[in-house]
Amino acid sequence: MRRLINGRSYVSGGARSAVILRPAVGISARESGMAFEGFWWRMMSDSASMEKVSLQNDKGKKENSGAEKERSKENRVVSSYWGVSQPKIIREDGTEWPWNCFMPWETDRADLSIDLTKHHVPKNFIDKVAYRTVKILRVPTDLFFQRRYGCRAMMLETVAAVPGMVGGMLLHLRSLRKFQQSGGWIKALLEEAENERMHLMTMVELVQPKWYERLMVLTVQGIFFNAFFVLYILSPKLAHRIVGYLEEEAIHSYTEFLKDINSGAIKNVPAPAIAIDYWRLPKDATLKDVVTVIRADEAHHRDVNHFASVSITLC
Ligand SMILES: [Fe+2]
Ligand SMILES: [Fe+2]
Repeated sequence: MRRLINGRSYVSGGARSAVILRPAVGISARESGMAFEGFWWRMMSDSASMEKVSLQNDKGKKENSGAEKERSKENRVVSSYWGVSQPKIIREDGTEWPWNCFMPWETDRADLSIDLTKHHVPKNFIDKVAYRTVKILRVPTDLFFQRRYGCRAMMLETVAAVPGMVGGMLLHLRSLRKFQQSGGWIKALLEEAENERMHLMTMVELVQPKWYERLMVLTVQGIFFNAFFVLYILSPKLAHRIVGYLEEEAIHSYTEFLKDINSGAIKNVPAPAIAIDYWRLPKDATLKDVVTVIRADEAHHRDVNHFASVSITLC
């Protein structure tokens, strides 16, 4: 039986049983009803008595259907994620919000109250390797992009959307291999990848990549995807710690982006339609609003990945 729970249709285990069982119950009731009625047709000629029997049958059918509904309620599987059902989001104009929620356990809006200054102080060897790796990677990035923050964001988002997909894929495979649940991590990481891809879809509305930048993305993706894949297999802890520190750098970059918007060095143009819809921003939102919500997303990814670094194993 296909149902719509919280705006998402799915087939539940309980409903499947109901589909299998109902025809058998229906046939049985129909057959016994026919035998019952046939018996009374033969035995009784009084029409008033027949009417009474018919009413009793109707009442019995209603009671059966009520009991069946109760059974169906008991078997109902609630679609939930980390114990929280995802709400159906309706826009102000009454239409349904079509995007995947980028904040899976709490809200469909960016959390602007998140602490942007939080920093994980490197404590052990893995932390120090991750921290140094990110600091080294930042040098060529700063040299290449300098203060071209629109271009920088667009190019770096093509990389930022890779780790969540690799991590989600490998945890998916672990779940299959070990016959175990993932504890919600597969979905969390895939949603992070989706959220990063939406950052890119927004940035590409503002900055059109040049041919050599497209070539660079191809090369970087080929190298980074494979390197991160191998790294994640060797050490998910190190992989997530590196992403945690990359996200700290992303917060820094978007803060600098906002400084340039505030100073007028970058024009505060109207927000792209896709961003207004995805983050449910006001119709007159600007680039500054978009960069602010993206920065909040990055702070959220920072916390998720630093937490994943101490929580996730692949064996
Ligand atoms: Fe991003
Ligand atoms: Fe991010």
